[in-house]
Amino acid sequence: MMTVFAVLLCVLLHQAIGQTKGTQSTKAMPVLSSATVLAPHRTISENSDFYVTCSTYGRNITSMIFVYLCKDSLGIRRMTLKPDKNDITFHISRVDLHHSGNYSCVYSNKSYTLSDVTQRGDNTIQILVIPNFLPADIAVVGPSAVHEGDNIEFRCTVPSSLHTLGECPLVYSYLRKNGTVLLVQAFNVSQMKATFSIKGAVMRDSGHYSCVVLPTMCIQEQEHVVHGKNTVLLEVKEKMDLASRLIISAGVIITIFLGLCLWWISNKPDCPAMCTSGLMSQETNTLGEQDEPDREDLEAQDEEEDSFSLEDEEMYNQGADGSDFEVVYSLAGM
Ligand SMILES: *[C@@H]1O[C@H](CO)[C@@H](O)[C@H](O)[C@H]1NC(C)=O
Ligand SMILES: *[C@@H]1O[C@H](CO)[C@@H](O)[C@H](O)[C@H]1NC(C)=O
Ligand SMILES: *[C@@H]1O[C@H](CO)[C@@H](O)[C@H](O)[C@H]1NC(C)=O
Ligand SMILES: *[C@@H]1O[C@H](CO)[C@@H](O)[C@H](O)[C@H]1NC(C)=O
Ligand SMILES: *[C@@H]1O[C@H](CO)[C@@H](O)[C@H](O)[C@H]1NC(C)=O
Repeated sequence: MMTVFAVLLCVLLHQAIGQTKGTQSTKAMPVLSSATVLAPHRTISENSDFYVTCSTYGRNITSMIFVYLCKDSLGIRRMTLKPDKNDITFHISRVDLHHSGNYSCVYSNKSYTLSDVTQRGDNTIQILVIPNFLPADIAVVGPSAVHEGDNIEFRCTVPSSLHTLGECPLVYSYLRKNGTVLLVQAFNVSQMKATFSIKGAVMRDSGHYSCVVLPTMCIQEQEHVVHGKNTVLLEVKEKMDLASRLIISAGVIITIFLGLCLWWISNKPDCPAMCTSGLMSQETNTLGEQDEPDREDLEAQDEEEDSFSLEDEEMYNQGADGSDFEVVYSLAGM
């Protein structure tokens, strides 16, 4: 009884396998008709949304049909189209570089699995997905050993022709140093290069430089006339430390002092000792303008007939930190 059952099961199983094999081998090729493919753009940027339309306009379709979008002769999407409609739009969101290819449309009144649709429509459009960032080659123009004060020029190139959105002739490129964006420059697509320059190299310009091209970032003509909301004027003043200020001030003081001495000697040859005597007083005021009483004092001194006071505006230096440095000397008893 058990063996009969087993044999029966075996036969049934065999039959079932034979049937599936039979259907597979004799399965007819899908009957597909060609539709028209339409896309607003042939070049699209990476991560953007892609819309492609299949149109059956002009074909006499009286029943509901299945429309297949094919990429490189393989079905990738399927949608149904009601008889009262001519067009259907497929939406592919956030495309990547693998979405580049030749797209076409076919349709049928039967539903097929996408992998069975291996036929392409009569017309195709080639879609190119443009990468947002393209690593480029970088080289230093001239000797790679650079000395302080030299001008450095980097040349950024791409190995093969570059495709940009809508054949844009000029796109952005970055010069990166040790991972951060240092300079932005226009990349000429027909020349396939961009040039970055650093004027007057300093020690901290040493490091690893690389270049990235942004093929989807087109530089528009009108960008040259668009400016920011406002501008700020930045003036970097030469920083002078206290020691050099003192040295310079001392130099000026000595020069004036000697000048005064000579003047004195030529006018009053009988009294040269005055020059070196304590009649000359030197005052160093570190608070300057804020120190109003001192200023009044000095002005009062100025008014005295017998006193000689000199306040050289050039020597009145105001440091970046707000501290003032003023040297005033007066010579009394002329
Ligand atoms: C569309 O096809 C139907 C039959 O399928 C036919 O009767 C009709 O005349 C056709 N129309 C055109 C405009 O060819
Ligand atoms: C797409 O078509 C173009 C020409 O029409 C051909 O050069 C290219 O190789 C095709 N791409 C693929 C992936 O088949
Ligand atoms: C599908 O279209 C074919 C002709 O292309 C026709 O012979 C067949 O009857 C149609 N089938 C259905 C279900 O409409
Ligand atoms: C790019 O380079 C070509 C060839 O040197 C030049 O004719 C063209 O003006 C450049 N394009 C731009 C936008 O600078
Ligand atoms: C580069 O950056 C890394 C960290 O991101 C840092 O440790 C390294 O010192 C930097 N090198 C230079 C030359 O600035």
